[in-house]
Order: sequence, then structure tokens, then C-alpha cells
Amino acid sequence: MENDKAAPASWHGAKMDFSQAMSYGDYLALDQILSAQHSRSPNPNEMLFIVQHQTSELWLKLMLHELHAVRAHMHAGDLPPAFKMLAREGFAIDAERLAGDWTVATTANESVKAAWLQVYQEPTRHWALYELAEKLVDLETAFRYWRFKHVTTVERVIGFKAGTGGTAGVSYLRKMLDVVLFPELFSLRTAL
Ligand code: HEM
Repeated sequence: MENDKAAPASWHGAKMDFSQAMSYGDYLALDQILSAQHSRSPNPNEMLFIVQHQTSELWLKLMLHELHAVRAHMHAGDLPPAFKMLAREGFAIDAERLAGDWTVATTANESVKAAWLQVYQEPTRHWALYELAEKLVDLETAFRYWRFKHVTTVERVIGFKAGTGGTAGVSYLRKMLDVVLFPELFSLRTAL
């Protein structure tokens, strides 16, 4: 400690020269991230608004990243029992649903509902598919909570003004609350 002032570069053994190696800041691109907060008003609270929104955007980015990975595994049949059991254990799924465009919003399909119904009626026989279905229901439930919290926040912050994205704002977001991601998994419960 007696040399603290004489040799600041070696305080506590801290490495100060990263000219030959990647630093923590380089790895996380901190220069870019920490220089991306540009308040446009004199209001000191704007920084909180920007940082909170940027943080939320990063969490959403992570969620999408992980969901894409999950989807790739499922398409590759890496959720072993799941897909092998579904297209090979006798569940009859409509050909047009299987060949459908996965990038557009899904609509309920009776053959899919009938297949999931069999899974729920005999969960121990189709355990992996049952687990998969419940995870998807968890995902949709969490997303619905998020949508509700978001629209409530939006109403609180901008009232009934139109959105910057061009929609009517709150009335549009309220309609979005009725969008169902996995319609068959919810509607089949009525039949259980
Ligand atoms: C004061 C805070 C916020 C306001 C006033 C607001 C406002 C809005 C509005 C009005 C819309 C409808 C689209 C439009 O016309 O702009 C929208 C949609 C959306 N916003 Fe926000 N937003 C806020 C915060 C956030 C945050 C923190 C996130 C997450 C990063 C977010 C993510 C989204 C998403 C994903 C949609 C599409 C919603 C859906 O399809 O249900 N928003 N927002």
C-alpha cells in the first residue's frame, strides 16, 4: 500500500494495459452502450426513462434470442420425445397446418387441438409433450401479463394519444390483449 501513489497502474494487481488483449469493456462493447443515452430535454428524469427502456429492449432481445434457439431445437427434433412423438406416434395433424407459413399469426386448428387433447388426457403416456405444452402455456401467460402491464403503463404515461408507431395507442394495445399465441392449448381445457 505504501506504493499506491507512486505506482497507480499496479494497484492491487489490477491490469491496466489492454493493448494486447480484449478487455471487459471491449467484450461488452461498453463504449457503444454507455454512449447511447441522449436526453433531448432539460428534464433530468429523461435519463431514467432512456436507461429503463434500453434495459427492457436488451431483455427482450435476450428473450427472442433464447426463443429462436428453442425453436431451432424443436424443429431439429432435439426435444427428443416431443416432436418424434407428435408428426410418429399417430397424432394426425392436418397437412396444410404442417406446411403453413410459420411467420404469420397462427389460427386454431382442430387437428392440433385434438392431438394436444390426447396428450392432456394421458399425460403420463406423453410426458415430454405434456411438459412442453405446459411450458408454452407458461410462456403465453407471462406474455399476456407483460401486455397487460404495458398497456396499463402506456395509458398512465400518454393517456389516449396515438402511438409513435402509427397505431391508435391504448385502444390498439387493448385489442392485442385478445391475441392468443397457442389457441389450441387454451381452448382444449374446456374439454378436459
Ligand atoms: C412510457 C413507456 C411506453 C409507452 C408510452 C409505450 C407506448 C406504446 C404504444 C402506443 C404502442 C403501440 C404501437 C404504437 O403505435 O406506437 C406500443 C407497442 C409496443 N411496445 Fe411500448 N411503450 C412504452 C414502453 C415500452 C417498453 C419499455 C417496451 C419494452 C422494451 C415496449 C415494447 C413494446 C412492444 C413489444 C409493443 C408491441 C405491443 C403488442 O404487440 O402488444 N414498450 N408501445
